Amino acid sequence: MDAIIVARGVEKRYGATTALAGVDLTIAPGVVYALLGPNGAGKTTLIHILTTLIRPDAGTVQIAGHDVVRQAAAVRPLIGVTFQDTTLDRELNARQILEAHARLYRISASERRQRIAALAALLHLEQVLERPARTLSGGMRRRLQLARSLLATPQVLFLDEPTTGLDPQNRSALHAHISDLARTRGMTVLLSTHAMDEAEAIAERVGIIDHGRLVAEGTPRSLTAALGADLVRFRGYGDSTALRSALGALPWVSRVMVDDASSDIAIGVDDGARRVAELVTWAQRCGYQVQAIDVRHPSLAEAFLAHTGVALRD
Ligand SMILES: Nc1ncnc2c1ncn2[C@@H]1O[C@H](COP(=O)(O)OP(=O)(O)O)[C@@H](O)[C@H]1O
Ligand SMILES: [Mg+2]
Repeated sequence: MDAIIVARGVEKRYGATTALAGVDLTIAPGVVYALLGPNGAGKTTLIHILTTLIRPDAGTVQIAGHDVVRQAAAVRPLIGVTFQDTTLDRELNARQILEAHARLYRISASERRQRIAALAALLHLEQVLERPARTLSGGMRRRLQLARSLLATPQVLFLDEPTTGLDPQNRSALHAHISDLARTRGMTVLLSTHAMDEAEAIAERVGIIDHGRLVAEGTPRSLTAALGADLVRFRGYGDSTALRSALGALPWVSRVMVDDASSDIAIGVDDGARRVAELVTWAQRCGYQVQAIDVRHPSLAEAFLAHTGVALRD
């Protein structure tokens, strides 16, 4: 099937700041896609452009074949959005908030009642529908926002950092809701997050964004596979620079990352268990003292670090 979100060369500047430096994105219908990046990477800017809120300086975006700038009015009914900054009228109760939103979309009274009841059941909001928004917990507020964004039964749902600030329990409950929605309604979900474990937990595809560019994209598995089948990590001290260049030249080493602060080294290899002894020998040869070793499969966290260099440097 054709892609439901297609972005080409999207750029956005704010004065001297380049928020987006040319983003290409193609997302198939029904996919849960995580835009993973640190603060300031450009996630919110991109979501604002995809949801017709702001215009790009260059490039094009189509949602279900409609241009977000020229055909914004055709795009809006197709999408639901939960923005990063909470926007709920604190004095209204949950039901009134949902009612008001449904009216905005000209949903009939009987349909409104039905949809609000169904979403309240789905997101476990039945007990709090009559409570003012200001009395709701963070998790309840997020679920209420999610319910609101689903009222108009969108084809594409945009969630900007949906779980930021939630405790682990509420967080995983929301993950389950999002996955359920995508599966049962065939809805496409694009969510942004700076939490690697979140992307790993719910996304079928992940785009790593940094400094306004998509630096890597793929399934969580394919992103970590690029690091090698296993990651051998040395904690230690000594000449990490010499060791890095020596290891970098070995054909079975796919990647060497050094933490500049601690001199710890992470080495992507084809087969960790088989290579450890050889790696330790190389360390001794290069004047690096290994104090501790662990071997495991790379996580999306390491893929992220490898692509963005935020904490570990290549
Ligand atoms: N309205 C704005 N005015 C000026 N600069 C902005 C504005 N919105 C975003 N930026 C800048 O653009 C960059 C990307 O921001 P943003 O899209 O909010 O990133 P993220 O959501 O990934 O944290 C940052 O450097 C940010 O300071
Ligand atoms: Mg943001």
